Amino acid sequence: MIKVAASILSADFLKLGAEIDRAADAGADWLHFDVMDGMFVPNISFGPAVLQAAVRANRLPCDVHLMIESPERYIESFAKAGARVITVHAEATHHLHRALHQVRDCGCLAGVSLNPATPPDCLRYVLGDFDLALVMTVNPGFGGQKLIPAAMNKVGEIHRMLSEAGVSAEIEVDGGVDLTTAPKIVRQGATVLVAGSAMFGSPDIAAFVDGLKKLGRAAV
Ligand code: DX5
Ligand code: ZN
Repeated sequence: MIKVAASILSADFLKLGAEIDRAADAGADWLHFDVMDGMFVPNISFGPAVLQAAVRANRLPCDVHLMIESPERYIESFAKAGARVITVHAEATHHLHRALHQVRDCGCLAGVSLNPATPPDCLRYVLGDFDLALVMTVNPGFGGQKLIPAAMNKVGEIHRMLSEAGVSAEIEVDGGVDLTTAPKIVRQGATVLVAGSAMFGSPDIAAFVDGLKKLGRAAV
């Protein structure tokens, strides 16, 4: 089964509550929160207060993608605000293993994200320490970018690495996911698809989510 994570970065912030309801009614499984600090990525988005408001107002699990330097400084705040999954970037921390365990100790599922140019090998020595690998298929910082094909090929490599080690974890793909790019991503073993601009820009958001989920069923 494919899970669809709606990235609220592409929602209309003035109507955030209604936009979240729209994604939930359309069948999205998770809400994806892109947290940006203007340092790790060249953009600034929102923090724990916005997450807390969203958690109170809706029923979907919140998947927090921390695009911030030294994410360990904020893990507890986002956990307290109600995150279900907290993902840190391997490139943003000197102590990935420690950060992942900090996330789990806060009661959340731990994710590790890799920028497009980061090799998947860095996951090898933290296998078993994360619940989700987030493959960035665009350079993080903005919605609405074009998928980088070479980055997508890491999905299959990570899928093999996990199978060979007998470790189970979600493989989430983020950036440029739409109904054209998703089939190849799903065939390589992705289990969670993040969609921002393609979802919120779709004239029929329910049909879009259904289209992504059908790809998952076809790949089984
Ligand atoms: C980019 C973010 C993504 C972004 C995806 O830094 O991590 O989650 O919102 O947006 P689309 O689906 O438009 O590429
Ligand atoms: Zn993201």
